Amino acid sequence: MSISRSVFSFPTRTIFGLNTLNELPEQLKQLGIRKPLLVTDGGLLSTPAFALIEGVLGKASRGKAWELFSDVHPNPIESDVIGAANAYRKASCDGVIAFGGGSALDVGKAARLLLKKPEFKLADFDWKQDWNGLAPCICIPTTAGTGSEVGRSSVIILEKTKRKGVLFHPGLLANLVILEPEVTRGLPPKLTAATGADALTHCIESFTSPSFHPLCDGVALEGIHLTVEALPKAVANGNDLEARGQMLVAAAMGAIAFQKDLGATHSLAHPLSSVCGMHHGLANALCLPAVMRFNARRKPGLYRRVGIAAGLNVLGASAEDADRQTIDFVARLFEQIGIKPGLRAHGVSEAHVDVMSPQAFEDGCHQTNPVPVTMADLRQLYIEAL
Ligand SMILES: [Fe+2]
Repeated sequence: MSISRSVFSFPTRTIFGLNTLNELPEQLKQLGIRKPLLVTDGGLLSTPAFALIEGVLGKASRGKAWELFSDVHPNPIESDVIGAANAYRKASCDGVIAFGGGSALDVGKAARLLLKKPEFKLADFDWKQDWNGLAPCICIPTTAGTGSEVGRSSVIILEKTKRKGVLFHPGLLANLVILEPEVTRGLPPKLTAATGADALTHCIESFTSPSFHPLCDGVALEGIHLTVEALPKAVANGNDLEARGQMLVAAAMGAIAFQKDLGATHSLAHPLSSVCGMHHGLANALCLPAVMRFNARRKPGLYRRVGIAAGLNVLGASAEDADRQTIDFVARLFEQIGIKPGLRAHGVSEAHVDVMSPQAFEDGCHQTNPVPVTMADLRQLYIEAL
């Protein structure tokens, strides 16, 4: 164990449980928010989840006691953030409720940057700038996967570069997170599976990344335990609110864990979204077993504790056997939740691999992979995952 200096921080206040959404008005009061801007994506407006939060805030008082901004793209762009900040100013709001999947949460969090500095261009963002004292923000996720609600970054496609920029600053953290299982009830099985796979990938990649963060390691292992238990149930029966709740907690834990780091799976997944338009969680699920096999060949025994957290009896197994059993378990779990293995089954071809490999190598996540990867390795991993 390293005894060199490390800094640990787990600061987000989180309220979890059934009907906790009803506490929203009281929590707004406690944060001194009198008129919140509800930031969400348009696709949510017709869902029971939106009806729930609209009911809690008061349908009739929309435009008076609270304001709505719902122009958020699935992969949010800079103008979404500008739009949210403009809506906030126009309606004289004094706080943000970010409600939705990762996109709405990221836009809600980032809009506060432009409230502090109205003329600011997100492309000029630097974490060393003073971003303290941002407007208060409550995050309420409606999916269990990205964990953006507990993250200190927003991923926004920047106008200047047309590429995803990661805006990272501790000041971006939400002041409060509400994990209400009821708002994830309506998430279809396919999305439940894909977002849950993202959460599991966060836990596995962060646990096995080499930097020193035993707090995150502990969180990641429990996140794995919760996910393997709850994800099949949540996919099989979306009304299983206990499983839904467990997945919300696991997803938040995955994101808390990956403040440590991620690995090569995420580097492979990012171009699958930008080039092939694939859902991020699905992309992770399709690449994770191949990356685990690659890593285990070079670091035998790497996945033993992942297997133990998943409930496998691999404590006394040889290093190779513990890895094999764990990787097989993860691959089977993905199949069990309805994810058809193989990139080809999802429209990816060798021609895509040629385009994606350099982009995967450019992506920073693989730099904290348990073993170093070259561009040729990433290409080979795509081929293996085909
Ligand atoms: Fe992810």
